[in-house]
Amino acid sequence: MSLSRFKLAHLKTEHLGQSFFHIETANSTQTTLKDLIKQGFGHGTAVLCDHQLRGRGSKGRTWFKLPEPQIYLSVALEPAYLPVQQLPLVNIILGVVMVKLIHSLDVSSCAMKWPNDVYIDGKKVSGILSELIQIDNRSIVLVGIGVNFHGNLESFPTELRTSATILELHVKKPIDRYDFISNYFDQLESYFNFIKKNGIGCIIKDFEDVWLYKDHPIRVIEGGKQYSGVAHTIDHTGALQLDTGKQKIAVLSGDIVKP
Ligand code: BTN
Repeated sequence: MSLSRFKLAHLKTEHLGQSFFHIETANSTQTTLKDLIKQGFGHGTAVLCDHQLRGRGSKGRTWFKLPEPQIYLSVALEPAYLPVQQLPLVNIILGVVMVKLIHSLDVSSCAMKWPNDVYIDGKKVSGILSELIQIDNRSIVLVGIGVNFHGNLESFPTELRTSATILELHVKKPIDRYDFISNYFDQLESYFNFIKKNGIGCIIKDFEDVWLYKDHPIRVIEGGKQYSGVAHTIDHTGALQLDTGKQKIAVLSGDIVKP
């Protein structure tokens, strides 16, 4: 299956998505993008596929495939552009910008589930992962974004039907996959430009505005450990600030489950 390169019609960015590739079927867009980076492509290069056979999820999990074309997207970000040493924060930025974009489609029930998921009405619509790679002395973050975009809930594997959702089902007007991606890149690049100029302080406040469990008790599972408490915010590294009632702890990664 061959890669085709084209211009996203409404894209206004300087970098993100300016080198944009589409492939009908890929094993993982993360691998396709890595190959492009090895060929010399850099910051902002993006790959979209319609069908992904071996999608990678966070924490070594897999990302499921649906029969209809979805958003299986990877984009390369170079360190000069963002706090690359703080990969968790990169996921937060990607998630916050995604939630804001979905809000702009009049889906007000969209929220971010720390550390890298986007939810609508309490169901997962998008997942994000970041992988740091080194090629020829270049450090590059490959960001993978999966959005359940088209189709119906019956397409999901049975175990996901009550916990996942599809964007199209929540938006009242027709949405175009390429326009959605263009808008996402526009807003992401503006956000990165803003933090480059003004620092990363805004991320914490923006996260708080879209945080799914802001005032709710939660349970976080990290490795073999479990913590219960309430988290109102994150710190400047993207760690969740969990108040267990006895102490305040910074949780670097983990899965949140309902208490
Ligand atoms: C998660 O576990 O929630 C993160 C899922 C990320 C899936 C996307 S789909 C496009 C890109 N290519 C992959 O193999 N994975 C990411």
